[in-house]
Amino acid sequence: MPRSPDVLVIGGGVIGLAIARRVAQRGGRVTVIERGVPGHEASWAAAGMLAPQCESDTIDPFFDLCRASLGLYPAFAHALRDEAGMEIEYRVDGTLYPALDDREQKTLEQRYQRQREAGLPVVRLTAKEARTIEPNLSNRVQMALSFPDDHQVDNRKLAQALVVAARRAGVDVREGVTITRILTDGDRVIGAVTKTEEWHPDVVVNAAGCWASVLNGLPPGACPPIRPIRGQMLSLDVSASPPFRRVIYSHRSYLVPRADGRLLIGATVEEAGFKKQVTVGGILKLFKGALDLAPSLREYPVESTWSGLRPASPDRLPVLGPAALDGLILATGHYRNGILLAPITGELISDVITTGDIPPMMRPFLPGRFERV
Ligand code: FAD
Ligand code: GLY
Repeated sequence: MPRSPDVLVIGGGVIGLAIARRVAQRGGRVTVIERGVPGHEASWAAAGMLAPQCESDTIDPFFDLCRASLGLYPAFAHALRDEAGMEIEYRVDGTLYPALDDREQKTLEQRYQRQREAGLPVVRLTAKEARTIEPNLSNRVQMALSFPDDHQVDNRKLAQALVVAARRAGVDVREGVTITRILTDGDRVIGAVTKTEEWHPDVVVNAAGCWASVLNGLPPGACPPIRPIRGQMLSLDVSASPPFRRVIYSHRSYLVPRADGRLLIGATVEEAGFKKQVTVGGILKLFKGALDLAPSLREYPVESTWSGLRPASPDRLPVLGPAALDGLILATGHYRNGILLAPITGELISDVITTGDIPPMMRPFLPGRFERV
């Protein structure tokens, strides 16, 4: 692979933009083609939690990837502040996971034991301790785990900052342009076309999120098996009296306080094809989960509702690295953790493009585990 490659990135979500920025900073000539407004699909819909510990029961290569990306965040946020001149609201207040019944308590006690044994930072709180630091939690709380290292970022600001930073690094970010076909010649990808232009870069990066598998022109065996998993969310206007300081995580619903006076409530996890709708059932479920956690939320005005489509592979793990066809690299399948994984994905994929070597950390996530070319 060339040292100063000419790269076409399909998809201007946080993944495509993070890759484009790093490749350009390392000397590549990069174009990002985005069908809509950059960062306005899953990357816009997300909650911005950077929370590998509160969602994980296993210490495995995926957990290590998430922790590695989390470790990049302070420098990433700092660099974006310099490059884009804006804050991405990276916050280190930590995350609290309360148990409201015996079953939840059992799950959390096991998670606590496993993570303690693995030497991870986790604190077990009594109900009283949890309600002392977050007084608006329900009095049904039985105990809670505090994860001081599980952080958050404003994902919308992150996407905006990445666009500015990528452009400043020399990336040509095209908005409102659709890739209609990928061009192949034998077992090589040689380019891609839009309605009006044809591109012949050295490398094509498929970072089209949940649409990665529906790009025309790829032989079926080389299509990443990605499908959309809908997530509905809503926000409350809590500016008059913010009820929480830190993220409150639960499988019922999660609550994410934002610096701008909103409290996000998320999220559903639904197989709904490419239908990006907000439904009565979805919002009802979110309200129920939120009120279980904090009954006083019923007094706050609803600010907005939305939904987005998470890109999910069959094993729910990212699909990263060279595809079976030469000249094609995949960066998709980030499912519930694409905001968290944006910095490490930018590093790993730019390593592959600029050096031709596969970083060891990427090996468990190579596309080959699904391909049949
Ligand atoms: P996207 O942001 O969807 O970007 C893909 C882009 O490709 C789109 O902009 C699309 O328009 C473009 N595209 C597609 N086809 C074409 C084409 N043919 N031509 C040109 N452009 C094309 N992750 C976290 O880490 N923490 C969270 O708290 C979190 N919460 C979430 C909550 C919800 C409700 C949802 C939906 C997701 C959440 N996620 C979270 C997951 C995260 O949002 C995704 O993993 C991440 O945004 C995926 O980024 P992406 O760039 O791959 O996809
Ligand atoms: N990681 C949060 C979500 O996907 O809903």
